[in-house]
Amino acid sequence: MNVLVTGGCGFIGANFVHQQRRLYPTDRLVILDALTYCGNLHNLEGLNHDPGLSFVRGDICDADLVAQLFRDERFDAVVHFAAESHVDRSILGPMPFVRTNVIGTTTLLEAARKAQTAKFLHVSTDEVYGTLAPSDPAFTEQTPLSPRSPYAASKAASDHLALAYAHTYGMPVVVTRCSNNYGPYQFPEKLLPLMILSALEDKPLPVYGDGMQVRDWIYVEDHCAGIDAALRIGQPGEVYNFGGRAERPNLDMVHAILELVDKPRSLIRFVADRPGHDRRYAVDCAKAERALGWRARWTLTDGLRETVRWYREHPAWCHSVRSGEYRTFYERNYTMRPDTASEVAQCG
Ligand code: NAD
Ligand code: DAU
Repeated sequence: MNVLVTGGCGFIGANFVHQQRRLYPTDRLVILDALTYCGNLHNLEGLNHDPGLSFVRGDICDADLVAQLFRDERFDAVVHFAAESHVDRSILGPMPFVRTNVIGTTTLLEAARKAQTAKFLHVSTDEVYGTLAPSDPAFTEQTPLSPRSPYAASKAASDHLALAYAHTYGMPVVVTRCSNNYGPYQFPEKLLPLMILSALEDKPLPVYGDGMQVRDWIYVEDHCAGIDAALRIGQPGEVYNFGGRAERPNLDMVHAILELVDKPRSLIRFVADRPGHDRRYAVDCAKAERALGWRARWTLTDGLRETVRWYREHPAWCHSVRSGEYRTFYERNYTMRPDTASEVAQCG
């Protein structure tokens, strides 16, 4: 297959690219990524000389660039990860979320529709369903959307548009909705990498509110395997939930990390809560298990241990991300073409 992967330099996108190269070395992947603050070419380490991979630096909202890409290449599928993904940032400023998540997604859908691309996989989130009380059943694909943060609202809007393209134009769109991912290459603004790196440096660990908000944690490799299954055998117009069947309060996760890095709980600081903070997410992924033959393989214990090991063993990555060095890596290593809005470069 020839696959366009948007956001392939972000956390989940990069893990997906690594997994795809291992599983399907003869496929071709074209990565479209704007390299925003969380897009990082270091996340594609080891793939520099892979002839099956090319990288286009560009914005999914740039309709001319996206149209040109679909004219230059005949894609068998699009896997769409690119997004503004951090809830706290969306509270500080919603506009980039509306721009990338809503307008960017629609720009891609429109290009794929015109090119009659055979599959469009839209990667979404369990946050579109809203929040749960402690005894509520987990979200199913039938749960009505009830987003409560600007991030979640922008993702819900993009889900509606993706499914509207399936309904109205008969486009082969598949939507996936996953719970909280953790693992290698996650930008340290999100809970787990922030806690791991802060604890390793004996810095305070900020826990919002009472720390009893519940998330369902999934190791990123399991999410990527689900996306792969949905890409290959998911039915057009369908939604598939993915989760790790590992609901935990945030405070338990922080305690687990402190134990793994052998640091004291006195590093924890309870800070002001996130405005509108969703109390609980839980995902029923029975449909994906039944229809796609998918199942989360990693236990939380093994996944957390592996994640902590990865951050410990990648001090150069951690340093480059924390110092901001990674943000100039592209300019230092790729030729800029001043005549175009974006630059196209073969990885390596
Ligand atoms: P991330 O923030 O780590 O990466 C996002 C990537 O998209 C970056 O490489 C960034 O440069 C790129 N990007 C952002 N705006 C762009 C634009 N306008 N044009 C082109 N590229 C752009 O995000 P992530 O955590 O890897 O999430 C990937 C996707 O998965 C998102 O759609 C997110 O909503 C969804 N998701 C994430 C989680 C999670 O726990 N992280 C869970 C479920 C779903
Ligand atoms: O549920 C899927 C979603 O998970 C994805 O769609 C989002 O892209 C992803 O960012 C994530 O959203 P959350 O808001 O759940 O993730 P975050 O890591 O920001 O926070 C996890 C929980 O930890 C949340 O309840 C807020 C809390 N938290 C977070 C940070 C950064 C803290 O208590 N302290 C912190 O410093």
